[in-house]
Amino acid sequence: MTDINARASGQFSIGGDAPVVRLGFGAMRLTGPGIWGEPKDRAEAIRVLKRLPELGVDFIDTADSYGPFVSEDLIAEALHPYDGLFVATKGGLTRSGPNIWEQVGRPEYLRQCVQMSLRRLKVDVIDLWQLHRIDPKVPRDEQFGVIADMLKEGLIRHAGLSQVGVEEIEAARKVFKVATVQNRYNLADRTDEAVLDHCTANGIGFIPWFPLAAGDLAKPGGELDLIAKAHNAAVSQIALAWVLKRSPVMLPIPGTSQVSHLEENVAAAQIQLTDQEFQTLDRLAKKS
Ligand SMILES: NC(=O)c1ccc[n+]([C@@H]2O[C@H](COP(=O)([O-])OP(=O)(O)OC[C@H]3O[C@@H](n4cnc5c(N)ncnc54)[C@H](OP(=O)(O)O)[C@@H]3O)[C@@H](O)[C@H]2O)c1
Repeated sequence: MTDINARASGQFSIGGDAPVVRLGFGAMRLTGPGIWGEPKDRAEAIRVLKRLPELGVDFIDTADSYGPFVSEDLIAEALHPYDGLFVATKGGLTRSGPNIWEQVGRPEYLRQCVQMSLRRLKVDVIDLWQLHRIDPKVPRDEQFGVIADMLKEGLIRHAGLSQVGVEEIEAARKVFKVATVQNRYNLADRTDEAVLDHCTANGIGFIPWFPLAAGDLAKPGGELDLIAKAHNAAVSQIALAWVLKRSPVMLPIPGTSQVSHLEENVAAAQIQLTDQEFQTLDRLAKKS
C-alpha cells in the first residue's frame, strides 16, 4: 500500500476517447548511456516499470529508438498485456551509435517502425504513435499521409508529433487528427509557449519532455528553493507541479531508472501550488 498516487494530477482524454492520468512516465532512461543498449541495472528497470500501475501511473511514453528497441522490449516484458495502461511510442529516428539520432521519414520506413513496434510491444494496435521528428529530406505530406493511412488501417489508434511548431501542427491537421504534441518544455525552458497555448486551445495533449528541469531557478536559497521548503518538497517536484498547473492538456512524462526517484516524481502530483506561487515562479523563470 502507498499513499502516493499519480491520479491526483487529474485526467486528460487523448484524442477525445482515451482518458489517461496526466502525470505519466517517460521510459527513455531505461537504457544504457547515450540511450544505447541495456540499462546498467536491468532488474531495477523492471521494478520501475512494475511500480507504475501501483502508483496510479497509466500513461507510458517510449520510442523504438530508445536503446534502440531496449525500452519497448522492457515495457513488454514488465507490463504486457497492459491491463488499463496506455503505451505511447514513436518512430522516425534511426540510431547508429550512442547519442546519435538521424531522421528517416520515408513512408515505407515509418510503416516499418510501426510494424516493428507492434511486434515488440506485443499488441495489435498502438495506443499512440508519434512521429519523432519531421524529416526535412522527405516531403512532409508524405510522412503525414502514411500516418493517416495507418490510422485508417487500425495499426495505430491515435497519432502525434514531436518537436514541432504551430505551422507544422496545422499542416499535419489537414491530413490526420493530431492527438498530441511532444516538445521540450519545462519551468526554465519556455521556448514553446505558443505551441502549448495552441494545443490548449485545440484540445491537443501537450507532452513536455525534460519536465523536471528548473535551470538557474533551482539555486539554493532562491525563490524556488523557498517554495519547495514551504511544501516540504524537492525543487524538481515543484518544477513538475508548476508544469502540471500550467495547462489542463499538459501530460508530463518524467523519466528515471530508479524506483526511489519514480516515487518522488509521482508524489509531485499531490502538490498544489497557490496561484501566487505559480505566478512568482512564472515571472522569475521568464526573467532568468
Ligand atoms: N520527443 C523527444 O524528442 C524526447 C527527447 C527526450 C526525452 N523524451 C521523453 O521525455 C522523457 C523525459 O525526458 P528526460 O528523461 O530527458 O527528462 P526528465 O524526465 O526531466 O529527467 C530525467 C533525468 O533526471 C533524473 N531524475 C529523474 N527523477 C529524479 C529525481 N527524483 N531526483 C533526481 N534525479 C532524477 C534521471 O536520472 P535517474 O535515472 O538517475 O533518476 C534522468 O537523468 C523521456 O523518458 C522520453 O520518454 C522525448
